[in-house]
Amino acid sequence: MSIPFITAEEAAALIKNGDNIGLSGFTASGTPKVVTVALAERAQKSHENGEEFKINLYTGASTNDHVDGELSRANAINMRTPYQSHKDCRNRVNNHDIHYFDSHLSHVSQDLRYGFFGDIDVAIIEATEMSPNGDVILGAGLGMSPTLAHMAKKVIIEYSSYYHNSFRGFHDNYVPMDPPHRREIPIYKPSDRIGDTVLHIDPKKIVGVVPSNASESIKPFTSPDELTQKIGDNICEFLVHELRAGRIPKEFLPIQSGVGNVANAVLYGLGENPEIPQFEMYTEVIQDAVMTLMEEGKCRFASTCALTFSDDAMLHFMDNIDFFRDKIVMRPGEISNSPEVVRRLGLIAMNTALEADIFGNVNSTHVLGTKMMNGIGGSADFSRNAYLSIFSCPSIQKGGKISTIVPMVSHLDHSEHSVKILATEQGVADLRGKSPIQRAQTIIENCVHPDYKQLMWDYLKLTEGKGFHTQHSLKDAFAFHQAFMETGDMHNASYK
Ligand code: COA
Repeated sequence: MSIPFITAEEAAALIKNGDNIGLSGFTASGTPKVVTVALAERAQKSHENGEEFKINLYTGASTNDHVDGELSRANAINMRTPYQSHKDCRNRVNNHDIHYFDSHLSHVSQDLRYGFFGDIDVAIIEATEMSPNGDVILGAGLGMSPTLAHMAKKVIIEYSSYYHNSFRGFHDNYVPMDPPHRREIPIYKPSDRIGDTVLHIDPKKIVGVVPSNASESIKPFTSPDELTQKIGDNICEFLVHELRAGRIPKEFLPIQSGVGNVANAVLYGLGENPEIPQFEMYTEVIQDAVMTLMEEGKCRFASTCALTFSDDAMLHFMDNIDFFRDKIVMRPGEISNSPEVVRRLGLIAMNTALEADIFGNVNSTHVLGTKMMNGIGGSADFSRNAYLSIFSCPSIQKGGKISTIVPMVSHLDHSEHSVKILATEQGVADLRGKSPIQRAQTIIENCVHPDYKQLMWDYLKLTEGKGFHTQHSLKDAFAFHQAFMETGDMHNASYK
């Protein structure tokens, strides 16, 4: 059967106002890059003609400017899930132009299959190879592609000719059965493969193939600065301590690491530390640092949902692709982030907090409890189920006017029950086995910036001897946030 080549504009014309649209990929990697730009133009024209045009958008995770940027600027998104990290999208979310359902990344594919969001009208899937019978080799990110390919009424393929080598062999396409028939996901070590390298899409559903030659446009991460380096060093030191104490087995445990500069600093730190043995990763994205660690022989294997390499690093990867072919597997997000597998493999999970409180609760999503930053992403898929869940952040922000450690978090993403270790550039608080007051003491002593320590001790004194298991004074719990909103500086916090 022959599948027609069509233009991005022709593809966009196949999408209707109110459609549920699913996209391949995870972060910018493997995410469509041309049809959504044409779709944004189409929405813009409709709006100029006084016509309503908005879609509901389902993705593996964050996307790229071609998706969240273009569609947000065109005000073309009605509902968005599960994660975004684009400033234009964030503004639309916070202004309620977009109804944002911030969700655990591991949940979305199954929620779609359970029918919680209705049908998928159109899936746009980036392919790097394709045959007329609908067999597709995906690109640098997998996301929800297998579920979308199966569920969508229509599929548009974005056929990428950007890569000069084949991705064949890197993907592990797999869809678990749904309850009550679900079985275990049979992954017992990061390198286990359970699915197909090829994604089969019913060719009758493929309405057109749109050529594309765009890169992922991922910028390199900046080298760690003094602050991120210090946080990274503190975490590395802690892990070495755990290894020496025998609480991390001598063959080490698989690592999950979130995106960003602290994550990169920790990985480089682990790479340089002679006491840390070769390790594996079971994570949702791998960045440039992991490629280097593999070439140095420090990282043996990585299971991921996407290769979030900067453009230069991606070219290096492509030039040396055969070296990596037996060292990396890309899985759907519901498998890369599966709580069942995370618990079984015993991961060391490292994620970032916006703020944490002295009792060990973490806010990763809402600035001052109100404004959405990005979303929870996969952080809770991992942290709730990891062997060791580590959260880190700088102890202060905005030149010291914000203490990231506060008496009570202004929004809760990861509760005290999921946070085992908290790290800042000041030090590391080990919260395992500690009561609320013990947690507060160790966090204040080890993680809080010296400028704010006395204010924290004073907070605890407010309710001393009152018989409270968790020593909160509800009228003072947000004194730090209140001070920042009223005076622009948390140093001015005072208790009533
Ligand atoms: N109160 C107010 N503002 C704060 C703040 C706080 N407690 N903490 C940080 N900020 C501000 C910073 O000053 C900065 O502002 P700017 O953009 O004006 O400079 C901004 O928020 C971002 O802070 P930064 O330290 O650069 O954050 P980051 O890039 O390291 O990202 C998260 C931190 C938490 C937003 C990010 O890791 C995230 O989205 N996490 C949730 C999802 C996740 O964990 N994904 C990986 C899972 S596998």
